[in-house]
Amino acid sequence: MSEPIVLGIESTCDETAAAVVQGKNLLSNVVASSMNEHARYGGVIPEIASRAHTESFIPVVSQALEDAHLELSDIDAIAVSAGPGLAGCLAVGVSGAKALAWSANKPIYGINHVIGHVAVTQLQFGDVPENTLALIVSGGHTSILRVGNIATDVQVIGTTLDDAAGECFDKVARLLGFPYPGGPHIDRHAQLGDPHALQVPQGLTQGKAAAEHPYDFSFSGVKTAVARWIESEVAQGNEINVDDVCAALADSVANVLSRKTIAAAKSFDAGTVIVGGGFSANSQLREALALAGERSGIDVRIPELKLCTDNGAMVAMLGSNLVSAGVKPSSPDFSIDSSMD
Ligand code: KG4
Ligand code: ZN
Repeated sequence: MSEPIVLGIESTCDETAAAVVQGKNLLSNVVASSMNEHARYGGVIPEIASRAHTESFIPVVSQALEDAHLELSDIDAIAVSAGPGLAGCLAVGVSGAKALAWSANKPIYGINHVIGHVAVTQLQFGDVPENTLALIVSGGHTSILRVGNIATDVQVIGTTLDDAAGECFDKVARLLGFPYPGGPHIDRHAQLGDPHALQVPQGLTQGKAAAEHPYDFSFSGVKTAVARWIESEVAQGNEINVDDVCAALADSVANVLSRKTIAAAKSFDAGTVIVGGGFSANSQLREALALAGERSGIDVRIPELKLCTDNGAMVAMLGSNLVSAGVKPSSPDFSIDSSMD
């Protein structure tokens, strides 16, 4: 059989996206984002994102098929993100994908978006080796996965107990007066500051909490700690050096992410670490992981940015893996799962 052609559809958050792959070849990749509509609210507003998905769904899917020079009838299977994500947003993508599958009589796969972030790296680096570790970080997730086999054996071994790393950056950025999303601003300012100017707490890294949660994260205390530090500096009449705040934050978060990921890789004997999600654009994280990888002889794979942020190719790629592995499609009435892990 020739390699399966899979249409992937993504609508977990603020990107409506569709892509077509054939085996591991990307034939098209279309993304429409409602990010600018959320900027003035300082974060993603679920109702605005859901409405944007309903408006963009048909144009984006049609464009993905057209760019691939295909009709819906040429597709072998449809894959769609079934979770985790915002319930209203997932409902739009999944209902649309089910309607397409039903009308064209095609099998449909409801996939896990976070595993899609791992699968998409095959477009740049080739096969995901067996027993790989993955760190997926964005405004919505911070997870460490052990990937025995990308289609059939993936376990979450660590996650954030509260905020995602990107969310934590966005909250501190707001405090510092940067527009949403603030992560890239913090990254830029961090390059100019002194990371030792203040101490940013690293959750779950000491004592009993560290032992009980070796691969979990907690970032919810960071914003409060930074806010308190700023207040006390202001009370003492000191000027706030924004670059220093950013440098301390970025250094601390990159350090804990990279340290726990490499520790997990070592303990699971994984020779490869894959990184994905919008936060993997972060310079401090990339540097920390590249260095840690070099030191420990682990192959660290961080794909180009357009593959890191949410897109349809990640969904189509995982769908393609499932079809090739002979995994049964989802039942036609499968549900969305906004907190899927
Ligand atoms: O994957 P993504 O585009 O959207 C979702 O959250 O699903 O990730 C966006 C997140 C935001 O929190 C943004 O501030 C953060 O990633 N981000 C960064 C950088 N670029 C994006 N955080 C730190 N440094 C960056 N260079
Ligand atoms: Zn994502």
